Amino acid sequence: MILVLDFGSQYNQLITRRIREMGVYSELHSHKLSAAEIREMNPKGIILSGGPNSVYAENSFRCDPAIFDLGIPILGVCYGMQLMVDHFGGKVERAKDREYGKAQIEVQNTNGLFRELPEEQVVWMSHSDKVIETPDNFTVDAVSPSCPIAAISSVDQNLYGVQFHPEVKHSEYGNDVLRNFIFSICKAESNWTMENFVELEIEKIHKAVGDKKVLCALSGGVDSSVVAALIHRAIGDQLTCIFVDHGLLRKDEAKTVMETFRDEFHMNVIKIDAKDRFLDKLQGVSDPEQKRKIIGNEFIYVFDDEASKLEDVDYLAQGTLYTDIIESGTDTAQTIKSHHNVGGLPEDMQFELIEPLNTLFKDEVRELGLELGLPEEIVWRQPFPGPGLAIRILGDVTEEKLAIVRESDAILRDEIAKAGLDREIWQYFTVLPNIRSVGVMGDSRTYDHTIAIRAVTSVDGMTSDWARIPLDILEKISNRMVNEVEQINRVVYDVTSKPPSTIEWE
Ligand code: XMP
Repeated sequence: MILVLDFGSQYNQLITRRIREMGVYSELHSHKLSAAEIREMNPKGIILSGGPNSVYAENSFRCDPAIFDLGIPILGVCYGMQLMVDHFGGKVERAKDREYGKAQIEVQNTNGLFRELPEEQVVWMSHSDKVIETPDNFTVDAVSPSCPIAAISSVDQNLYGVQFHPEVKHSEYGNDVLRNFIFSICKAESNWTMENFVELEIEKIHKAVGDKKVLCALSGGVDSSVVAALIHRAIGDQLTCIFVDHGLLRKDEAKTVMETFRDEFHMNVIKIDAKDRFLDKLQGVSDPEQKRKIIGNEFIYVFDDEASKLEDVDYLAQGTLYTDIIESGTDTAQTIKSHHNVGGLPEDMQFELIEPLNTLFKDEVRELGLELGLPEEIVWRQPFPGPGLAIRILGDVTEEKLAIVRESDAILRDEIAKAGLDREIWQYFTVLPNIRSVGVMGDSRTYDHTIAIRAVTSVDGMTSDWARIPLDILEKISNRMVNEVEQINRVVYDVTSKPPSTIEWE
């Protein structure tokens, strides 16, 4: 395992991912870990991440100084290198000019981090402080015009530092630098695969659960589907899933979930048809927040009702991801965000939680899903909000409006898939703005609904841009919607990014 200590850099997760991509397991932890805790974890190497602080500032993030005496190889990146320099008596100062972007370095020591790499390379810099004096016993391994100490090492102490960010793709040989650290210096082995993960996790689940029973709220989304499939692989019929169909799902969604999990995987899935209950509660409600609250609460009531009918359930499985854990708990103010999980389960439930995906990133969860034999349709499903189509209908929700959104959404999905754009576009769906306009069909005047297409590209849903769907595909989609969906006589395309808009309309 390679341990990454988090000092708040926007790239900190990226380091962990790069290492895992090399087949070596890596975890990101708070910089507050003590040397004793780290020794217990027994990592092959430690990486100190970058961060927004200045090492000379009061209250800057520090690590337990005893980690430098553990004898474990350490690589400091940006702030991490400055911290190392400061600890060993070198000097760090504010640079005259911030250096942000590409820079050319000249390597002066082609051993260690730069083994078998070119002497001139482009790297990605992002810093306002720089090292101006190396501590005793350290050599300068690379220089750049504006940063005369761009990489350092103290081979005897197994300590290395780079001012640039090797984890960022713009650093031409960044991956090789990390590779040299991990394989040549730390002597880590490349043995972390999804197949291993499944084996290890099954063992862990067995050990934790024994012959007890586990409950899982299955939504059909990627995370809950993968959790259910993994736990089922481990304990079979000791797992029961509850799938709440709130009537706000997309076309054929409930059918796919049941066919996959009950018919193909032979899992215990209890499907609750709660459409009437939800639509009843939503009747006449137009306020977006109120709609969300009603749906969230109703979900809890329905789930609670069903769960209380089951006997002897001790565990609740949740699809919490590594990102959720990192974002809520590494103590670096910049990245803290409240912990999201499968959303809205009762807080006072008397279950113990099991969260077998809590060391995985989203793309690894997808890989795991495929390893477990889940269909691509589920593994590559686009994000879909808990409140479902209800927040894609502006104003009150009725069955008639749901049908318009559901049918138009199905056409959009079909055409996007046919055009091969379904992996490229983060999310694509239709919205019923609840406005009518005049049209002409055949020889008659119509006064019908407008449907809006929303399609965005994004990396994490936090920001997004509208997708540049080719015009001929938009034309096909528009034609089909007007011809095949009753009550649509106009199609518009939403061309706003987030911010200032959000992805969903409500
Ligand atoms: P917005 O609309 O805020 O959405 O730009 C960002 C991402 O979050 C999804 N979303 C939700 N997901 N429950 C969820 O599980 C929700 O209530 C919810 N609201 C929005 C949205 O689809 C997008 O991917």
